[in-house]
Amino acid sequence: MKVFITRVISEAGLKLLRDAGIDIVEWKEKRQLSKEELIAACQDADALLSVGSKVDREFLAACKHLKVIALHSVGYDHVDIPAATELGIPIGNTPGVLSAATADTAFLLMLATSRKAFYLHKSIAKGNWGFFEPTANLGIELRGKTLGVFGLGKIGLEMARCCKHAYGMKILYHNRSTNPDAEAELGATWVSFDELLAQSDVLTVHTALTPETEGVFNAAAFAKMKQTAIFINTARGGIHDEADLTNALEAGIIWGAGLDVTNPEPMKADNPLLNMPNVSVLPHIGSATVETRNAMSVLAAENIIAGLKGEQLPHPVNPEVYD
Ligand code: DGY
Repeated sequence: MKVFITRVISEAGLKLLRDAGIDIVEWKEKRQLSKEELIAACQDADALLSVGSKVDREFLAACKHLKVIALHSVGYDHVDIPAATELGIPIGNTPGVLSAATADTAFLLMLATSRKAFYLHKSIAKGNWGFFEPTANLGIELRGKTLGVFGLGKIGLEMARCCKHAYGMKILYHNRSTNPDAEAELGATWVSFDELLAQSDVLTVHTALTPETEGVFNAAAFAKMKQTAIFINTARGGIHDEADLTNALEAGIIWGAGLDVTNPEPMKADNPLLNMPNVSVLPHIGSATVETRNAMSVLAAENIIAGLKGEQLPHPVNPEVYD
């Protein structure tokens, strides 16, 4: 049995695959494979471990022999799940293990933005640490403020816990359904989307990118937020409209933003957001810790091993494939 892996991943999962007697072929070039290259590479593979490579209907039709596709991510917006299910291919992801690391990134962006930390760091490097002015470089404090969570799943819950325990923040959230556990643990309150916009001092996005969530943070949404609000997105760049966000920040409609995800990725070096004092941007590093990347590679390997044995994946995205 052979698995094709689209990027170099951590050794923990590779060892599991080797120990299970699976041959590994890795794409080691530091560039994204083209669709044609991916299709060609999978022709003599039994499984695919995709690290961000697009798995669309055309790819799946050309590779219907694959017994399993494991994603090295919790998100699966780059995969045509209905097409995979139609073709009987189980898709697995890596839920749970990256919640804490991603929430840490959201918390880091919130705090860094509230104190203009990234901008001030860059200013010092440009030689601009000058005369002390008591009214310059002022940030916003977070203690006792209101956190609005758009998408209170595993990652949103971790972020809410951090904010509650560090700063006693009041937690509001908007989900399709209520989250009784978060309500009991943190006193979180479900509110409508408009209430979330109007009441949040920090609004943090933790939902999946779907047709319903694409572009929901647009000019109309930013206009309903507080002028002092900070917008944080560590989920997917497609959930906010980047031009509208830039305008909202430039016009003082909202106060600041922290982004680990942008639209498009990578963000261009001349993007105006990178020079705004109240904006912090990171290059999609939500899950980038040694511990989490090891755990993700293990989960992906476990999905591959189960799929190649013909067993149900431990972490299936399309369990309906077994119906
Ligand atoms: C995920 O797992 O979805 C992360 O965003 C990495 O892409």
